[in-house]
Amino acid sequence: MRLKVLSGTNVREYSCAGGENLLDFLRAKGYAIAARCGGNGKCGKCRVRVIEGAFEGQKDGSVLSCLATLRGDAFVEVFETKGGGLTYAAPASSETDGESGFGVALDIGTTTLAFSLVDLSAGKEIETFGVLNRQGAYGADVLSRIAASDEGKAAQLQDCVLSQTREVLGKFCKKYGLNGVKRLAVCGNTTMLHFFLGKNAHGIGQYPFRAEFLDTVRLAGKELGLAAEEVLVLPSVAAYFGADAVAGGLAAGVEKGVNLLADIGTNGEMLLHADGKLFATSTAAGPCFEGANIECGTGGVAGAIDSVSERDGRIVCTVIGKGKATGICGAGLVDAIALMAEKGVIDETGAFAEGTERFEIAENVYITQADVRNFQLAKSAICAGIRVLLSEAGVESGRLNKLYVAGGLGFYLNKDNAVKVGMFPRELADKIEAVGNTALAGTKQCLLQKGRLADAERIARSAEYIDLSASPAFMDAYIENMNFGD
Ligand code: FES
Repeated sequence: MRLKVLSGTNVREYSCAGGENLLDFLRAKGYAIAARCGGNGKCGKCRVRVIEGAFEGQKDGSVLSCLATLRGDAFVEVFETKGGGLTYAAPASSETDGESGFGVALDIGTTTLAFSLVDLSAGKEIETFGVLNRQGAYGADVLSRIAASDEGKAAQLQDCVLSQTREVLGKFCKKYGLNGVKRLAVCGNTTMLHFFLGKNAHGIGQYPFRAEFLDTVRLAGKELGLAAEEVLVLPSVAAYFGADAVAGGLAAGVEKGVNLLADIGTNGEMLLHADGKLFATSTAAGPCFEGANIECGTGGVAGAIDSVSERDGRIVCTVIGKGKATGICGAGLVDAIALMAEKGVIDETGAFAEGTERFEIAENVYITQADVRNFQLAKSAICAGIRVLLSEAGVESGRLNKLYVAGGLGFYLNKDNAVKVGMFPRELADKIEAVGNTALAGTKQCLLQKGRLADAERIARSAEYIDLSASPAFMDAYIENMNFGD
């Protein structure tokens, strides 16, 4: 049997035995197909256009590749998730131990991988680069990826992240004439770090949520097939409070006063410092701020709508990279929903006005009722998490100096709209400061200075983790905050 695949303007032809799952087959051939529900036929992101041939479940000339089986010759068009060339606003760290050579800081996000090439002696950032995490083909969130790993895909998950790391290291080395780098410093959520090192993440996925390792890991790059003399994996606090949030707290300077850092990705991790103590927690906000579980959602990559407003009765939006809009990212979603509430497209419970099917933003980009519901769950989890963390730590919100909002979302976020939709407590509105990818910035500091790594280790060791999954106070706040308006 033959399968022809069109991607962009490239056509390739493969032979296949028949009986293979189409998504698995395409993934094995290296196509980056989004499969945010992990192949459960729910998200619709893995849809391919059928040019020739027929598949069971085919509708309007297309089929969900995760549900399709190869049974005869076919020709399909796939729509790959690319997204290279992101730039991160991570402040360059100039302090250094003065070592010679080059190093790379890597933040393994569930959605994107962010790399930064650094001159170790000058402490100067040479280049940053971001790519969508290829593990997206195994689900949008950590739980679906852990499920994929439990089903025997652990090696593929590790291979995704290692092969992308090799490619970017190779690109840096070629461009700057290097044979390799001295050190690769890595942060990420605890699950991503397990996949990176090929550790079993099973315990993270179920109660009592135990990680196989949390401490700093050092190993030779060659053990992972990477062109780095040393690989340094930063320490984590708990199964759901990873090295990314530790590095973020370090870079944001959370310990410099009564401050709270909220790192919003597929999880909302929060680190609070008050009276010489550190408290950490995380909320299962779901991946909607990274564009998953949103019908036209996408990560903060080129083509993503990152702001939405209304001017003279017309919807106006801005697009990352200034090209044609291909989807909406978390920051755009916050704006769109604030606008929908303002215009009465949704009522205070989030229900669409009668007769409204969807809210159009740009050509082929719109918000559905289900999107609003997913957003409500996520924003409420963040807001409730902040409230309960402050209360468990015994810190009055009036004492807080800063609420740092980190992550790709923080970088583009309209703070007023985020408060309007109830993502952050209203009383903290004037304390919010968007700080971008602090995880990468903190990782760079650890790459450059041993003393900063020691600080990260101290934060990870001393932070008291507050488990919200069993907290009745969190549940109450979560339900209370679900609606829009005061
Ligand atoms: S519908 Fe196929 S991966 Fe989600």
